[in-house]
Amino acid sequence: MKKEKLNQIMEKFENKQQALLPCLHFIQEEEGKISEEVMNFLAEKLDIPRVEIYSVVSFYSMFSLEKQNKYVIRVCASLSCYLNGTNKIIETLKEVLGIKIGESTPDGKFTLEEVSCLGLCDQAPAMMINDREYGNLSGDKVKEIIKSC
Ligand code: FES
Repeated sequence: MKKEKLNQIMEKFENKQQALLPCLHFIQEEEGKISEEVMNFLAEKLDIPRVEIYSVVSFYSMFSLEKQNKYVIRVCASLSCYLNGTNKIIETLKEVLGIKIGESTPDGKFTLEEVSCLGLCDQAPAMMINDREYGNLSGDKVKEIIKSC
């Protein structure tokens, strides 16, 4: 854990509790997950109950308690996307990757997740791979995207 960098992030905030999300983003980016050790450290430094930090980490899909694979695919399953064919997109991804929702490929390259609205409803059906957005998806488009990864 990079305590020095975390301390630097915390110093930027007058209200130290506001440093929680920036600290979590940094650790997720650096370590690919939010460990117990990190949650304990932040709870103590930011004076936030550990259970509250755990709730934040569990609530936001961009944070993970388990180490994430290289490509985390998040497919939107909310209404607009659902009405525009999310099921077809998910079926294609399952078929191409050979995994189910919530699973990772054996080589550790892809993780497949179903999430709520990504804010891309005007491009439904939509998904994200890591920080990149993909909209107006079709089965063929999804296959091309996976091939390019
Ligand atoms: S409903 Fe899918 S991005 Fe909003």
